[in-house]
Amino acid sequence: MKMNIAVLPGDGVGPEVTREAVRVLRAVADFCGYDFRFDELPIGGKCSVELGSPFPESSRERCLASSAVLLGAVGGPQYDALPDQRRPEAGLLALRHSLGCFANLRPAVAMEAISGCSPLRPERIRGANIMIVRELLGGLYFGEPRAVDAASHSAWNTMRYSEHEIERVARVAFKLAQGRRKKLVSVDKANVLETSRYWRQVVTRVAADYPEVQLEHALVDSFAMNLITAPTRYDVVVTENLFGDILSDESAVIAGSLGMLPSASIGGKVDLYEPIHGSAPDIAGKGIANPIGAIASVAMLLRHTAKLCAEAESVEMAIEQVLNSGMRTADLLPPEERSKAVSTETIGQRVAELTVEMLHSRMSYHAV
Ligand code: NAD
Ligand code: IPM
Ligand code: MN
Repeated sequence: MKMNIAVLPGDGVGPEVTREAVRVLRAVADFCGYDFRFDELPIGGKCSVELGSPFPESSRERCLASSAVLLGAVGGPQYDALPDQRRPEAGLLALRHSLGCFANLRPAVAMEAISGCSPLRPERIRGANIMIVRELLGGLYFGEPRAVDAASHSAWNTMRYSEHEIERVARVAFKLAQGRRKKLVSVDKANVLETSRYWRQVVTRVAADYPEVQLEHALVDSFAMNLITAPTRYDVVVTENLFGDILSDESAVIAGSLGMLPSASIGGKVDLYEPIHGSAPDIAGKGIANPIGAIASVAMLLRHTAKLCAEAESVEMAIEQVLNSGMRTADLLPPEERSKAVSTETIGQRVAELTVEMLHSRMSYHAV
C-alpha cells in the first residue's frame, strides 16, 4: 500500500491539528508496513503574504499529483484586509475547485463519553448520527456575476445551480443513505428561492432511482431548529453549499465541540480531507486545540481513499477510547475544570498509541 498524501497545514491551529493527524497516519503506516509519503505544501494567509498567492500553482500541481489531500485550516483576522483573490479563503476555494470534489461529507455523531459537553440535554442527543452532504462547488460561493460596485454603492453574489450539479450531489447522498438508515432530508428554501425550487424538483426526480430511501424535503429555517431540537430524527442531509456550511457548524453542538468534526470532500480528481472548523485564532499557538476533527478526517481518508476499513475503524475506536478514558482538550471541559485539560499533542499521541494497540489486537485475533 503506497500513498502520497499532500498535507496543507495552513494557518492558526491548522498546523497544530494536522501534525497530530499525520502522527496517527504515520503510526498506522509504520505498524502495517505501508508506504505513506507526506508532501507538506503551503496554503492560506501566511502563504499569501509570503508567496503572493493563497494557493500557489506549485501547491495546486502537487495536490493534483497526490493520492489524497489533508488540509488543516486557513484564515485569520490579520489576513482579512488582503485583496479578494489573495484572501486565505480564496485559496481554499481554489483548492476545492481544482480538485473538483463537489460532495462534502460532514458527519456529526453524539458520542456517549462526551454527551455532557453539549449544551443540549443528553437524552435529546443520545444516538444522534447525522451525515450532512454539502454541495461544495456551486451556489453563492462560485456563482457569477459577483462584485462590489463602489459607484452604485452595492454588492452582489449569484446563487446558481445546474441540473447536473444538483443531480450528482443528490446521488452521493442517496447512495450514502442506502448504506445507513435509508432516510434522506433535502434542505432548501423552496418557499422563496428559484434555485431551491429547482433543487427540489431535481432531487425528487433522482429519488425514483432509490425507492428504498425515504426522502423528505425541509425548509432550511425550520430545519435549523429541528436539527438541534430533534437530532435523532435525521440520518443523511443533503443541501446546497452555504446552507451546508451553516448547518454543519450547527451540528457541532450535537457532537459537543466544533473541534470534533471531520470532513471528506469527494467526487473529483483527488479527495480532500479537512476538519470542518477554522483556524481558531483565539486559541492558536497555545497547543490546546482539539485535534480529533483532523484525526477523524484521516480516518475518513483511510476508509474512502485508501479503502483501509479496518485501519479507519481502529482510528475511530482509538478516538472513542481516549474520550472514554476522560482525556480531554479544553473545549470539551466546563470552564471550572479546564485545568484538567490535556494538550493537542497528548491527544494525538494517545490516539496514535491506541490505534496501534487496536490494530495489534485485531491481528492477533485473526491469527488464532
Ligand atoms: P473557527 O472554526 O476558527 O472557530 C470558532 C470557535 O471554535 C472558536 O472559539 C475556536 O476557538 C473554536 N474552535 C475551532 N476549532 C477548534 C478546535 N480544533 N479545538 C478547540 N476549539 C476550536 O471559526 P471562526 O473563528 O469563525 O473563523 C476563524 C478563521 O477561520 C476565519 O478566517 C475563517 O475564514 C477561517 N475558517 C477556515 C476554515 C477552513 O479552513 N476550513 C473553516 C472555517 C473558518
Ligand atoms: C468551511 C469554511 C469555508 C467555507 C471557508 C473558510 C471558505 O467555513 O470549510 O466550512 O465556507 O466553506
Ligand atoms: Mn464553515
